[in-house]
Amino acid sequence: MERIKVNLDKGRNDSYEIFIGREILDRLGLVVKVRNHADRYVIITDSGVNPLYGELVREKLNGANLPVDIIEIAAGEASKSMNTVLDVVSQLINLGASRKSLLVALGGGVVGDLTGFIASIYMRSVPYIQIPTTLVAQVDSSVGGKTGVDLPEGKNLLGTFYQPEGVFIELSFLKSLSDADFKNGLAEIIKYGIISDEEMFKLLEREHDAIVDQQPALMKNIVKRSCKIKAGIVEMDEREQGLRRILNFGHTLGHALEAASDYRLSHGEGVAIGMVGAAGISHKLDYLDQASYKRILNLIKQYGLPTQVPGDLETKKIVGFLASDKKVMDSKLHYVLVKKIGAPFVTDAVGVDVITDVIEELRQ
Ligand SMILES: NC(=O)c1ccc[n+]([C@@H]2O[C@H](COP(=O)([O-])OP(=O)(O)OC[C@H]3O[C@@H](n4cnc5c(N)ncnc54)[C@H](O)[C@@H]3O)[C@@H](O)[C@H]2O)c1
Repeated sequence: MERIKVNLDKGRNDSYEIFIGREILDRLGLVVKVRNHADRYVIITDSGVNPLYGELVREKLNGANLPVDIIEIAAGEASKSMNTVLDVVSQLINLGASRKSLLVALGGGVVGDLTGFIASIYMRSVPYIQIPTTLVAQVDSSVGGKTGVDLPEGKNLLGTFYQPEGVFIELSFLKSLSDADFKNGLAEIIKYGIISDEEMFKLLEREHDAIVDQQPALMKNIVKRSCKIKAGIVEMDEREQGLRRILNFGHTLGHALEAASDYRLSHGEGVAIGMVGAAGISHKLDYLDQASYKRILNLIKQYGLPTQVPGDLETKKIVGFLASDKKVMDSKLHYVLVKKIGAPFVTDAVGVDVITDVIEELRQ
């Protein structure tokens, strides 16, 4: 089992460890018991994950004599809502969960974001741990402490920064994941390669077949590297004042594409096209050479992720969503570009004409 320490602000006691491996849950009960003195443990999971792993995780905690309840929410993004928050909170109250209870987020990013949010506000905050079960959650959402729910007006509009007490990444859970959800996670892993780890980028180029077959040593390697990159960035900029923005590589255009398609495009698909777009802008503005642009494009293609803007999405509509993103952030649209693979930078100096040209060039 690998361990990564996430060291946050020294003034607060917010640091935690990420455990990564196979069959690591055998030690879950003991680790949790030693670190947390909770009176009860409540697993929050969804209807896709509960039948697969709910009882297994309960057994592992029960094995260390810990009292465990399970709350199940419906699988899917629609559950990341205030209605679900209120529903889960009433169930917690009915179960007798107190300020000394600990919540266990068992699931993908939806369960993780929702549980973290509830943990940050339930009885003025209770501790929680993350047991991420999707690749997106294992390499991205479970690390960094961003929690939240969606509102009818937009995604992630209510939320907090609230760090978990620990993250337990059980790699064998990935076996049951759908191809589409596996690819969503691969898009984030490719992103880490582009922004921070050329060696991993090369590994992804070289080992495509073994990675899509989930060869255990390789999966552990790329999940660990991705977590290390995210943890390292979060340690330096927990609240996204600057550096953390580089994690948004491909996401600005990606979100606009997702929204313009009425979420027909998944997050991973939006990010994949968004990364090609960001690399395209980097090349157009003479930061990135043609060969590196092609490598980025080819790697995304190689993993079966889309690289072109669907024909039915109007450029004007996509640019409109980019502009509304700008309003939410601040007065300027920040773009993450790359000078080479592994060397990103943030700029607010990308003209709408350049973005429009690149979107047009990426059309099917
Ligand atoms: N907090 C962050 O920093 C952060 C980062 C990235 C994404 N997110 C959020 O994460 C969410 C997306 O997360 P996601 O992609 O994990 O989606 P998800 O949580 O909706 O999970 C996708 C589907 O996979 C199923 N599933 C989960 N694990 C499984 C397994 N091991 N085997 C079989 N099925 C399984 C779930 O039941 C669900 O139907 C979005 O809401 C996004 O905003 C947050």
